Amino acid sequence: MTTVTDAGQTAVDADRTAVFDAAVAADERIEPRDWMPDAYRATLVRQIAQHAHSEIIGMQPEANWITRAPSLRRKAILIAKVQDEAGHGLYLYSAAETLGTSREELLDKLHAGRQKYSSIFNYPTLTWADVGAIGWLVDGAAITNQVPICRCSYGPYARAMVRICKEESFHQRQGFELLLTLSRGTEAQHAMAQDAVNRWWWPSLMMFGPPDDESSHSAQSMAWKIKRHSNDELRQRFVDIAVPQAEALGLTLPDPDLKWNEERGQHDFGAIDWTEFWDVLKGNGPCNEQRITQRRTAHEDGAWVRDAAAAHAAKHTERTTARSAQNEQEATA
Ligand SMILES: [Fe+2]
Ligand SMILES: [Fe+2]
Repeated sequence: MTTVTDAGQTAVDADRTAVFDAAVAADERIEPRDWMPDAYRATLVRQIAQHAHSEIIGMQPEANWITRAPSLRRKAILIAKVQDEAGHGLYLYSAAETLGTSREELLDKLHAGRQKYSSIFNYPTLTWADVGAIGWLVDGAAITNQVPICRCSYGPYARAMVRICKEESFHQRQGFELLLTLSRGTEAQHAMAQDAVNRWWWPSLMMFGPPDDESSHSAQSMAWKIKRHSNDELRQRFVDIAVPQAEALGLTLPDPDLKWNEERGQHDFGAIDWTEFWDVLKGNGPCNEQRITQRRTAHEDGAWVRDAAAAHAAKHTERTTARSAQNEQEATA
């Protein structure tokens, strides 16, 4: 009989950590069966869950406009987009499941307010132009955030992001095209597009998270190569991409301090209202209550679908087991 002494266990842990660290340093992917530090696993579950929750809660503000889309073409595009977001949620819940957590458990935590989703979805969609502003700015910010995650050290998360980013780039373009049509339309349509951009610009900048010196998880996530760039770097990249696009749209960004800085080769921009960010994060945004109530209701209303799917799966397993038992019997007879 062998007993593992404390010293022996420590040596095993040190070996495993060294293998893990070397794989991360060599830009190799960590896969579900590989050993990983508990904190790495917990960080990934937290981040992937938050990301998955954002995808499905994010369906609400836009789905709000499906019945009121101004044409059949716009309606078909919007339905497809909202459906894509549901799909993104599914890929991500599946990625989280590879870390040993169930989708059920994650949804329970979301519904109980114990896990978060992106605060951007706690703002209302007041006009049709908001659908365009969300596509252009919110999906645009999401892409800037998510493209580097395609190179994340955890394999299933990185692979899910490759497909998600392709779809997000379609979302961003449809938003841009929608805003361009409004911007070149009547005076009232142009004003509607401008108003939507005015309301979504600052919350989009907040999507990159708190400034680097206040971001509690950033340094460790960068060391583990879950995150590749800091919040402030990504925010700056987004601003630099958005400015010429706003010009092409014929719309202005609501920031009097926004200007090109020749020396830095980047745009300077005004101060973000972090009080608003923390307030919405704490649950006091305009739609926090509505979003989570609607999510809980959708979950309860969908219980019969989950029950039916589980009953079908059980029946299927039963039949396959009976059939293979019968085949075995016939083979030995
Ligand atoms: Fe998405
Ligand atoms: Fe999207």
